[in-house]
Amino acid sequence: MKTIDLDIQYAEYFALKQYEALKDKSVTALTTLDMGTGAGNDFLGWQKLPSETPADLLDRINKTAARLRANCDYVVCVGIGGSYLGAKAVISALSNMFADFYGPKPNEPKVLFAGQNIGEEYMSELSKLLEGKKFGIIVISKSGTTTEPAIAFRMLKDQLEKQAGKEAAKDLIVAVTDASKGALRTLATQEGYETYVIPDNVGGRFSVLTPVGLLPIAVAGFDVTKLIAGAAAMEEATKHPGDDNIAQTYARMRNALYESGKKIEILVNFNPKLHYFSEWWKQLYGESEGKEGKGIFPASVDLTTDLHSMGQWIQEGERTIFETVISVEEPCVEHRIPEDAANLDGINYIAGKRVDEVNKMAELGTLLAHVDGGVPNIRIKVHTLDEHTMGQLIYFFEKACGISGYILGVNPFNQPGVEAYKKNMFALLEKPGYEKETAAIKAKL
Ligand code: PA5
Repeated sequence: MKTIDLDIQYAEYFALKQYEALKDKSVTALTTLDMGTGAGNDFLGWQKLPSETPADLLDRINKTAARLRANCDYVVCVGIGGSYLGAKAVISALSNMFADFYGPKPNEPKVLFAGQNIGEEYMSELSKLLEGKKFGIIVISKSGTTTEPAIAFRMLKDQLEKQAGKEAAKDLIVAVTDASKGALRTLATQEGYETYVIPDNVGGRFSVLTPVGLLPIAVAGFDVTKLIAGAAAMEEATKHPGDDNIAQTYARMRNALYESGKKIEILVNFNPKLHYFSEWWKQLYGESEGKEGKGIFPASVDLTTDLHSMGQWIQEGERTIFETVISVEEPCVEHRIPEDAANLDGINYIAGKRVDEVNKMAELGTLLAHVDGGVPNIRIKVHTLDEHTMGQLIYFFEKACGISGYILGVNPFNQPGVEAYKKNMFALLEKPGYEKETAAIKAKL
């Protein structure tokens, strides 16, 4: 099956010298990644997940998903960051955009998310929705100690046990966590929940192709075997260095643009289903590259929506940005604009056209306008939004991220900066063990 296409013709011109100069560095980065000789090499397990995911793991995931689908109207996935965004991205890309308004059907629970914020209204409103309803929980945390999902899980577990009884609740909770470490592992063992393991050598933001993403995606009714097959096709296509390796080319081009002064990359879509894919991508690149005072700032827009809010800035603001556009060739459905006899709105000139034909012209018009305005444009073309495509996109961006981080000269697999806010929050909440930090932070207030 054909993989996604990468087009750099509208970016090359802006950083040709830098792009040429990065050729050898991009080959070295790819080789370093493949050989596992670079920084963070204890977190490279994601590289072979597609080709090495055992069929019996997928079978078990499908069985668990079928059980939750049969017994729940709602399944709440509890997790944050890498333990949330991948599943949310894939489910949003593949779901009917108005699915939530149709309400749950037998064997088709609604997949909801919690633990990705500490919003009191969010938790209270979720709890109200679940009152008296049949629901299950998938709690996901690699470390098993993250505060946001721990709070949400405690509240939801309490509600589920009260509604369904402790014994029945046990069968409606599945934990995805480390094989042996962390509070969630201890709790799951003690309570007797079904569990899935997040491999030691796969970091949070690279974990969507483990049960972290696969289980919620299967519960939402999507084919995880096809998702993995798409990722495997991309694993194969991005193995060897060369001009036809699209992950290497993308990593090389974005670094060339960065060196030429383009410090912000905007991931652009013309399909609102990809909104959360951009959120996943921002974590992947932001946490992987934003360190040691370096790194492209990852931003995103949904077009044409944001052309009416951010369009002015993109067209004429500071010329420090470039765009990477995910272009979807074929929508999954056909929907045409009707003729109107009175034509008072003046749009009969596009009557009879598919909505997407107009969207495509908006896309082309935007590309040309932005390039004319000094915004380099990288284009990623996918055929249609299905599981195979999503698998390809996920692996493509992960592989390119590893290569790009090595070109930039950072360890793309750690995230030391994420700890700073946690330390302050624990000190402010007077968590036992943080007495010194509490005294120090209080002295600053
Ligand atoms: O990429 C990462 O490692 C982080 O963003 C984590 O995914 C996030 O903090 C959640 O961590 P955990 O799965 O340990 O709860």
